[in-house]
Amino acid sequence: MEDMLKKEDFENNNIIDMNVLYFVTGNQGKYREVVELARKYGLVVEMLNIEKIEIQSDDIREIALFSARWVAAKIRRKIPIVVEDAGLFIEALNGFPGPYSSYVYKTLGLNGILKLLDGIENRRAYFRAVAVLEHPVLGEQVFEGIVYGRIAHYPRGTGGFGFDPIFVPEGEEKTFAELSVSDKNKYSHRARAFRNLFEWIRSRFSKA
Ligand code: IMP
Repeated sequence: MEDMLKKEDFENNNIIDMNVLYFVTGNQGKYREVVELARKYGLVVEMLNIEKIEIQSDDIREIALFSARWVAAKIRRKIPIVVEDAGLFIEALNGFPGPYSSYVYKTLGLNGILKLLDGIENRRAYFRAVAVLEHPVLGEQVFEGIVYGRIAHYPRGTGGFGFDPIFVPEGEEKTFAELSVSDKNKYSHRARAFRNLFEWIRSRFSKA
């Protein structure tokens, strides 16, 4: 293995562990979900809790891409990083809060969303996640995941984070907050995006 490494790689500190990824987030809930999933692919995910810029846009893909490129430039592309952005899109509210989910969670909260849906029959909603990989060797790749479901009539459960107590994925009766991390990972937008990411990384390895 060492024979394959070039002298200048050592000098430029370019040796990276292909099994390790740095997830740029301060959200313990997100981190727990991704670590659990990564283990199944023999990958290690470390939390990189550093500042990232979030632009305002109607498209979470644009938000995630901008943040990822900004962080990658800041760390001079030395280590593989992943930046993820997610949002809750409620059909009866024309996709609100969508890209504004974080702000709406902090301001209106779960009860604010439930009030907006008071008396409305259509509870259909989905979560969408976009995960952007910026890899020193493999380059930039974007992965997405969606989970369809409905908004519950009242909050249930204590697990997870954010809108988990009011979101029921299709095929379930429980809210995300009532599911274990591994059960949430069977359905969630984030798990779908990261599974795509991990499978893509594994497919690169087998070609190497
Ligand atoms: P962020 O900008 O990706 O951190 O996500 C925006 C907001 O969407 C978060 O503050 C959460 O309130 C909400 N959110 C994103 N993913 C989830 C999830 O898996 N469960 C519950 N809420 C989520």
